[in-house]
Amino acid sequence: MERAVSGVRSKRVPGERDKATTVLSMVGLPARGKTYIGRRVARYLSWLGHPTRVFNVGSYRRRQIGASQPADFFAPSNKEGRQVLHDLAMTALDDMLVWLREGGEVGIFDATNSTKERRRLVEERCRKEGLPVVFIESFCNDPGVIEANVRDTKLKSPDYVDMDPDAAAQDFLRRIAHYESMYETLEDPNQSYIKIIDVGRQVILNRIHGYLPARLAPLLIDLHVSPRPIWLTRHGQSDYNRHGRIGGDPELSPAGEEYAKHLAEFVRKNAPRDQEVSVWTSTLRRTIQTATKITRSPRTWRALDEIDAGVCDGMTYDQVRIEMPDVWAARSADKFRYRYPRGESYEDVIQRLDPVIIQLERQRSPTLVIAHQAVLRAIYAYLMDRPPGECPSISVPLHTVIQLTPTAYGCEEKRFALPPNVEDQGAGG
Ligand code: F6P
Repeated sequence: MERAVSGVRSKRVPGERDKATTVLSMVGLPARGKTYIGRRVARYLSWLGHPTRVFNVGSYRRRQIGASQPADFFAPSNKEGRQVLHDLAMTALDDMLVWLREGGEVGIFDATNSTKERRRLVEERCRKEGLPVVFIESFCNDPGVIEANVRDTKLKSPDYVDMDPDAAAQDFLRRIAHYESMYETLEDPNQSYIKIIDVGRQVILNRIHGYLPARLAPLLIDLHVSPRPIWLTRHGQSDYNRHGRIGGDPELSPAGEEYAKHLAEFVRKNAPRDQEVSVWTSTLRRTIQTATKITRSPRTWRALDEIDAGVCDGMTYDQVRIEMPDVWAARSADKFRYRYPRGESYEDVIQRLDPVIIQLERQRSPTLVIAHQAVLRAIYAYLMDRPPGECPSISVPLHTVIQLTPTAYGCEEKRFALPPNVEDQGAGG
């Protein structure tokens, strides 16, 4: 029997609804985490459907004049060097403006932009294109943070390849001193800016208006790089999984209960000593049951519930294909944007996961997220910086723990397949 239900496929491209072309211009001395912040913001906004790209002036410098410039190249007294750096910055800025003109939504201009004069120039060029500029400054004088940043990122940078680490650190500190001598912090009350002081101890928002810049504040308040594992796993096999039925609120199968035991053992063995593991589940029984061997009181999030399959909830994929061929065809044609009739699309799932991601970024201890296939694909895409459109094809098998450990510029991934091995009827590629 063919059921008459029309497919609902949104025509817009991701982000189009809220398109608000914007320039975010980083500000800060070297080793204050500007590139880290810029990339995090880019990953977050791209995931939310706003095409975002970072234009890093350091990369332009390395490409165009070579990586190994000594500290004195950056000295204010080196007029020639200053001119070269200025020209490189303007080239990067112009490239960004071209990219925005051609359809990009958020351009991140990643340079020190450490003087008022430079920032005035950035604003002037952007204003000519009718683009608003929001400055994001990382202001920090904590020697511990600066040292860690130099060690973890700068000494590994192509600028110092093959150089003795002590000599490289000395050179880099001299470079910072040159910038310090001309640095002017953000303080113009007429400018739009977010100033992050001492890695979030204080965050100042000045003239922050509009949907997109306001959305950045919760992310920027708590950015940190404390290494901690994030474990993502689907619930143990459910009765629905056994029969390839989608959605619903089924219980675990006997094999699923077995997995819950192995998962608890995995967490006990792998949790770093003296650190409490936060366990998050959806509100659905199969995830809560999977957590019971670890905790009786997980944090249950409605936002972690599986994609709502609407009128298809409880059906098998074969049933959908035969009884609702329109739905099947439309979903197959664009699985990311296709919204089940009276249900959700992957794009919808991403929007509702936003608070989960913000909280995940805040966590400083290990977090175990027990959820569902579509939801975990969306979270994985964020953490691994995969284009959101790829979400529906990311592999998240049953009875597998995906361990992601955030590092300075991404996440390290390890996968652990735990027993029992089960067939995945609903892997739905
Ligand atoms: O099959 C298990 C399941 O979690 C379903 O409940 C859900 O509809 C489906 O996976 C999501 O995967 P896909 O988007 O590939 O259909």
